[in-house]
Amino acid sequence: MDSTCCSKTRNPFTGVEANAVGVQVAGISKSYSGVEVLTNLNFEVQPGEIFVLMGPSGSGKSVLLRLIAGLESPTSGTVTVDGQDPCLEETRDRVRLALVFQAGALFNSLNVYDNLALYPREHRSGDEKSIREKVMHALKILSVEDAVNKFPSELSGGMKKRVSIARALVMEPQLLLYDEPTSELDPVMSATISEIIATLKNEYSVTSIVVTHDRSLALTIANRVGILMDGKLITLGTPEELKATKDPKLIDFLHPKIDLQNPRFKKLETQEPK
Ligand SMILES: Nc1ncnc2c1ncn2[C@@H]1O[C@H](COP(=O)(O)OP(=O)(O)O)[C@@H](O)[C@H]1O
Ligand SMILES: [Mg+2]
Repeated sequence: MDSTCCSKTRNPFTGVEANAVGVQVAGISKSYSGVEVLTNLNFEVQPGEIFVLMGPSGSGKSVLLRLIAGLESPTSGTVTVDGQDPCLEETRDRVRLALVFQAGALFNSLNVYDNLALYPREHRSGDEKSIREKVMHALKILSVEDAVNKFPSELSGGMKKRVSIARALVMEPQLLLYDEPTSELDPVMSATISEIIATLKNEYSVTSIVVTHDRSLALTIANRVGILMDGKLITLGTPEELKATKDPKLIDFLHPKIDLQNPRFKKLETQEPK
């Protein structure tokens, strides 16, 4: 077994110890039916980092997350997680990677306990007693123990998100990928989720890649933020660098102004449909 998987070193960049894994994205492009949706992306995510990806709707954020999760392959270029192709079975056996889907992706027919116990049961990781301990521990971290016997349809939006994160934690992930974890939540619950993501990084050894529209999440808890527009990574930097940007396109994206004299939707009408 490759020893890099579980090396217990402290990452100088993030200060996180233990077995978080890094991600390398090298020259990747992705096309569907000849239409390119991601163009020549290059970046690395450090072990233990909180790396946030922002960008307008349709800019390719979810596609990029699926490529990193190994659910799809790039058309060209390479993605590696801890140096390995995430699409390969052997990588999935070796590196624990969990994706928190935008819609939660909980099984409606199972209660919260069974949703969380599904992965450890399938992977035969321990007897039912140790699975119960893991499940209850994860629910406790997210302060949703009370939901253990409820079905997903009985949960509020914020609880659903927290249960989805708890389900990912049961997998004891080394890499956590979040797709819009605060979408459809009120500002207070969004701040709570941001705090949870930051806490998980500090208390556990996990690398986090977070796709979001949530500017306050990005500028508060990220180590670095990348901005995707039309499938291209137009900038990559620390929250401080982003806050100090003079680039009008970035300023407009981060602080869009409502301009009733010159409304945006009038400009949209004159653009060719994509
Ligand atoms: N499976 C697919 N087949 C064809 N086109 C896709 C597929 N998945 C995503 N796309 C297209 O790729 C672009 C980026 O999508 P996506 O990554 O979902 O955007 P977002 O940044 O909103 O998450 C969109 O134009 C979308 O229609
Ligand atoms: Mg998306």
